[in-house]
Amino acid sequence: MRLDRFLANLPSYNRQQVRLMLAQRRVRVDGQATSDPLTEVREFSRVELDQQLLQAGRPARYLMLHKPAGCVSATQDPQHRTVLDLLPAALRGDLHIAGRLDFNTTGLMILTNDGQWSRRLTQPATKLPKHYLVETEDEIGEHYVAKFREGFYFAFEDLTTQPARLDILGPRQARLTIVEGRYHQVKRMFGHFDNKVVGLHRERMGAIHLDPGLAPGAFRELTADEIATV
Ligand code: URA
Repeated sequence: MRLDRFLANLPSYNRQQVRLMLAQRRVRVDGQATSDPLTEVREFSRVELDQQLLQAGRPARYLMLHKPAGCVSATQDPQHRTVLDLLPAALRGDLHIAGRLDFNTTGLMILTNDGQWSRRLTQPATKLPKHYLVETEDEIGEHYVAKFREGFYFAFEDLTTQPARLDILGPRQARLTIVEGRYHQVKRMFGHFDNKVVGLHRERMGAIHLDPGLAPGAFRELTADEIATV
């Protein structure tokens, strides 16, 4: 919400008082004095007027987790352990997953309570590259590369996938970069060649790399620099 609306919604101030207090630069958002009525106030923003705290701001949280195989990308599941079960109870609170992975897929998983940020990370319009290491049952042919670049028609969604980059690393291993996150996307792409994906690991989302120091199941907070890349 814009700052002038936030202030005018408080019971104590009318619009004229709000205009004046802004002009006098008596309002601080996240520690910065501002006179701009359009300054964005979020649930995470700390807002002060002179020495008075108007909103403390909920702590925003951004975590990376090394997802192990055999756990569900969900906040709750009646049968299996979920990625949230890997976090201490005190941290789980209001976190959601930014970009799910299948049950046996491993690698970079990002969890946050900041919906605006996670939408930027995951919405197709952002075209954020996601990098996967793929192991397949059968050999990967050179002809795959052009098809991944050209796109695959997905009948269920009635769309053709965005150009993807396939780097063949070995007879049954490749690195794949895709800019979307359709349901089972990687498996369906290889499925076009009747080639089963037997190992899938997400290494990177945009500029955020899975920390090599994180063992499967371990997590850490994202750094301010990592958060700012999205
Ligand atoms: N594509 C898949 O098929 N599975 C995943 O877990 C991620 C991308």
